[in-house]
Amino acid sequence: METIFKRRSVRKYTETPVTDVQVKQIIRAGMAAPSAKNSQEWVFIVLRDPEIYKTFFEVHVNAFAMKTAQAAVLVCADLSKEQDPGQGWWIQDCSAAMENMLLEATDLGLGSLWLGVHPKSDRIACLKEVCKLPEGIEPLGIVALGEPTKDRPAIDRYLEDQVFLDTYGNPWEK
Ligand SMILES: Cc1cc2nc3c(=O)[nH]c(=O)nc-3n(C[C@H](O)[C@H](O)[C@H](O)COP(=O)(O)O)c2cc1C
Repeated sequence: METIFKRRSVRKYTETPVTDVQVKQIIRAGMAAPSAKNSQEWVFIVLRDPEIYKTFFEVHVNAFAMKTAQAAVLVCADLSKEQDPGQGWWIQDCSAAMENMLLEATDLGLGSLWLGVHPKSDRIACLKEVCKLPEGIEPLGIVALGEPTKDRPAIDRYLEDQVFLDTYGNPWEK
């Protein structure tokens, strides 16, 4: 799938707006992800308030993409919806949703970036406060969105020395 290789992290965006229609399509792609026992415990918070972007940037210096992002979506888990409570599957479930969202954004011709939130306690605390997350709603990451200021090349990172056959260290391709 070409989109997988075309997806690159974009940290600078033009002023072209990202529409709610595009955001909805991206969230729809997130919700199409696989989840443990089909928990679908994800919650999506569309971030449009520039104050939230600014506040998050104060606790996460490597979030400068938020300075020009035209939209962003905070992906959280609602722990009360976990089918296997307390096991931490939500991290994998929400990560699968995040990746789907990045791919959908790429397919729509948008640039995107995964901004890490979990497990950094200061970022989690900041978002819990600014987005008023109730008890049991855990933030995983933010998908920043916008039109890229420049194209980044597609990438193939296949590394044959990290692929083994049956036992660790036994090369799959000889
Ligand atoms: C869990 C996770 C957290 C990340 N957090 C950040 C971040 O906070 N800021 C940032 O600029 N990039 C972040 N990235 C993007 C990575 O730096 C990027 O994916 C990596 O350098 C590979 O580049 P590519 O996405 O263009 O292929 C994150 C990626 C992942 C998967």
